[in-house]
Amino acid sequence: MTIAFILNGEDVSLNARSYERLADVLRERYGLLGVKADCRRGVCGKCLILLDGRLAPSCLLPVFRVKGREVVTIEGFAQTDEYQDISKGFAEAGLESCGFCDTGKILAAAALLERRARPTSKDILEEMASVPCRCTDPDALVRGVLAAAEHRARRLYHRVGQ
Ligand code: FES
Ligand code: FES
Repeated sequence: MTIAFILNGEDVSLNARSYERLADVLRERYGLLGVKADCRRGVCGKCLILLDGRLAPSCLLPVFRVKGREVVTIEGFAQTDEYQDISKGFAEAGLESCGFCDTGKILAAAALLERRARPTSKDILEEMASVPCRCTDPDALVRGVLAAAEHRARRLYHRVGQ
């Protein structure tokens, strides 16, 4: 079947079998290796993407489910102003990340801030629960996302005021 969707801001179309998983398609056909397929059970958070702005595990998504929708991977997100807001916020909070969880933490923060410009600590910890990590201080996670929210608000306010 032919599946057309938006990938990192570009219209794309591919022939795929209905059982193919989005994580495999993104890695193998588009070379987007920031998407990692590890547990393939929706548990580890390494394959997270944004699907229409919501966090989604691409290992569980049959590729036909993205037809007509918008997919953003960390490679695409890294080109955005929102990425800069989050990077700065995380750095200011001294937030620890590693190659296993950095993509998931950034995209989880992005999905949350898209829905809630001023999230609560509870909102943040709930969203970040999609990215299993026992080595990060939850307070640092909260501080990092709140700092990112501040950067985002300042940037958007500045634009409106121009
Ligand atoms: S590969 Fe682990 S959640 Fe998708
Ligand atoms: S810092 Fe990456 S899994 Fe904890």
